[in-house]
Amino acid sequence: MQPTILAIETSCDDTSAAVIQDGKILANIVSSQLVHTAYGGVIPEVASRNHDLNIWHVVETALIQSKTELKQVDAIAVTMGPGLLGALLVGTTFAKTLSWANNKPLIGINHLEAHISAHFIENKSPQFPMLCLLVSGGHTQLVLVHSFTEMQILGQTIDDAAGEAYDKCAKLLGLPYPGGPVLDKLAQHANPLEYSFPLPKVEGLNFSFSGLKTSFLYFLQKKQIENPAFLEEEKENLCASIQHTINLYLTKQLQKAIDLHKPASIAIAGGVSANSDLRRKLKELAEKNNIPCYIPKFEYCTDNAAMIAMSAHFKFLDKKFESLDTVPYTRS
Ligand SMILES: Nc1ncnc2c1ncn2[C@@H]1O[C@H](COP(=O)(O)OP(=O)(O)OP(=O)(O)O)[C@@H](O)[C@H]1O
Ligand SMILES: [Mg+2]
Repeated sequence: MQPTILAIETSCDDTSAAVIQDGKILANIVSSQLVHTAYGGVIPEVASRNHDLNIWHVVETALIQSKTELKQVDAIAVTMGPGLLGALLVGTTFAKTLSWANNKPLIGINHLEAHISAHFIENKSPQFPMLCLLVSGGHTQLVLVHSFTEMQILGQTIDDAAGEAYDKCAKLLGLPYPGGPVLDKLAQHANPLEYSFPLPKVEGLNFSFSGLKTSFLYFLQKKQIENPAFLEEEKENLCASIQHTINLYLTKQLQKAIDLHKPASIAIAGGVSANSDLRRKLKELAEKNNIPCYIPKFEYCTDNAAMIAMSAHFKFLDKKFESLDTVPYTRS
């Protein structure tokens, strides 16, 4: 059976709903909560309240745009975690209610697996095992993807995530939240080798970003004592240099994992995979190793329900349904 599934995502600050039929996305509506920009980060309570305000309209729009009626849907899928508890509770309670009231099975989705499943929206026959660098706002992982549903974590960050490192460094440069995309834009025509920062040293395939962030902070403080206008004068070169350092570190760890696990392909996923320099560095790495690389479309990098729907499609085929008693989880 080729199912039609309504999928809902509310793990952080994007309220999103998508409809998938026969593995093809018919609608993907994302409502981003811009209210958090004023605070320089996501305020969990504000996120939950905004999901509550947005969710019905977002779901209804996805159904209308996909020309799907609720009675035609075979299952309701929802992000169960990881994420912000209040935000997850809005999505899961909404999805469970729809599931119960319409007598449709519920499918619980892991948000991180879904970031990786975003690849399968467009690429129906990836070469497995696929080694995926998952870099998002809250996570940084190296994942060996054996099939559409089997994923093995090889390493992960022991402190900050790559997206967090981008956002915190951007904040030190006076850029608005979320800083990653702004920093990427400012770095476009600047010199990535103008300033250098020490690469973190962590055993094996794990990551660490807290030391790099601190060394960037101390460097800026020292330079601003020497020249108070330093930050303004050098903003673009600073963006390019810290971006180059973060991405160089990510790709060095990726190369280590390639050498150890000899994957058939490599990939990136999560919000930071929208970074233009990281996309370029991944292509170079793939060429050097003579293996294919998969890079998701921009719209599927940051949070969206299309990736939840794609993950749910495979779970439906495997008959992996969720009990209405299952509670959301905040950590991976
Ligand atoms: N072009 C870019 N360059 C660098 N970082 C970027 C870019 N675009 C988005 N990001 C970063 O991606 C992150 C958001 O990604 P995503 O939506 O996947 O995270 P999240 O859902 O909050 O976290 P998680 O998926 O771990 O729960 C932010 O930290 C943002 O700065
Ligand atoms: Mg995410």
